[in-house]
Amino acid sequence: MQFASIQPLSVAAPWWRARPGQVLAIRGGRPLIGTYPISGAKNAVLPLMIAALLSPHLVTLRNVPANLDVAVLSALLRRLGVEQSWSQTESGLAMTLCADRVHPAGIDPELVSRMRASVLLLGALLARCGAVSLPMPGGDAIGLRGVDFHLAGLRAMGATVELESGQIHATAPAGLHGAEIVLPLPSVGATENLLLAAVLASGTTVIRNAAREPEIADLATCLIAMGARISGHGTDVLTIEGNAPLAGAVHDVMPDRIELGTLACAAAITNGELLLRHGRLELLGAAAPVLAGAGVAMREVADGLIVRRSPTGLTGVDIATQPFPGFATDLQAPAMALLAIATGAGAVTETVFEQRFWHVDELRKLGANITVRGRTALVRGVPALRGAAVTGSDVRAAAALVIAGLGATGETELQGLDHLDRGYDRMTEKLVACGADVEQW
Ligand code: UD1
Repeated sequence: MQFASIQPLSVAAPWWRARPGQVLAIRGGRPLIGTYPISGAKNAVLPLMIAALLSPHLVTLRNVPANLDVAVLSALLRRLGVEQSWSQTESGLAMTLCADRVHPAGIDPELVSRMRASVLLLGALLARCGAVSLPMPGGDAIGLRGVDFHLAGLRAMGATVELESGQIHATAPAGLHGAEIVLPLPSVGATENLLLAAVLASGTTVIRNAAREPEIADLATCLIAMGARISGHGTDVLTIEGNAPLAGAVHDVMPDRIELGTLACAAAITNGELLLRHGRLELLGAAAPVLAGAGVAMREVADGLIVRRSPTGLTGVDIATQPFPGFATDLQAPAMALLAIATGAGAVTETVFEQRFWHVDELRKLGANITVRGRTALVRGVPALRGAAVTGSDVRAAAALVIAGLGATGETELQGLDHLDRGYDRMTEKLVACGADVEQW
């Protein structure tokens, strides 16, 4: 993806600035010291923006992260007729969305193909407009990432769904109705999609084996503020009494727990000390004790989390990713970068996605000793990583390579910065403010 190809986005998201260069040069070995503000969560803001489609009234989101996915979704929503205004407030970027008129035919296939979260347009547009045609969504190449749970749930709610040449056609001319849905796996996206659809459906919907990721509770909180009747958010059974009249709302996007965990790894690998502003331990779920075991010392203070390397140093630990509150799959790659220079070995098992080890070959180029067998990567710590030319293949792989580069000796040249921009709000700028020697060209 070239940034030049997304010029029209500047209209929808005036804050978005294309990067000056395509390579990030990281001269490692400097401790990160200072305050690193954790932005609003990427995985919360995208469903929240789509939730605005459900109501004709104004929805204002505050603490919006200035990342590429937000810019792309902003452009997508604009073409669906959703007007938007942006402002810079003391607590960061705010956006107000107005979906008083929605044109479901305005879907831009190219923009849909850029991110997985666009699949949530299915539930929201079906509920609001009664029909939607959507190309199969894009996103990171980290496994099959089917949408079968989404489609089965919508069918149970009365939708007719057909797949034809890579397009999903869904209709519900008489409207959606409530249903009892049991998800085969606690899929984050399917839970969100069905929650969005259920809010405007007639009757009661119960979603069992729902995902419990905090971003879903954040979405439910905003929907409730808009007038939706939802209970059980944060648990694995969500109950939605549909068809409540929706108003507008003002909602603060929750802090990004993945940015938090990523930067905690960065502080520890560089032997620095960061105040991760807005960070809280509970956001990390099971990752908090695991990272602590690996030598990431974390202490909560009033305005965030202070993180540094523990005096006993970095130690290899075993990690198995799981749905929340388990160890987040999105922190698997950043944590692997940390284990690469830990004392001893750690087995990293990926249970959520089938193919999420694309970063392993790149970490090896930096000198890491990692062998993969099936879904487990055995990381044997080496005394030091050394800079090399590497490429980020997805958003979290790119972040892992930044961490590894910051902890390496010499210069790392990272390509694939578009991935980094998708998920991280002004990472380079924030790192430089904490003393990192990084530069784009
Ligand atoms: C979301 C997050 C992503 C995170 C992931 C798991 C967003 C925008 N993205 O992705 O960052 O890594 O949760 O925490 O919030 N599955 C199916 N059929 C379906 C749906 C899912 O087989 O219909 C499978 C997927 O292939 C995957 C697993 O279920 O193996 C989990 O996927 P899911 O929780 O849906 O992830 P996403 O919502 O895509």
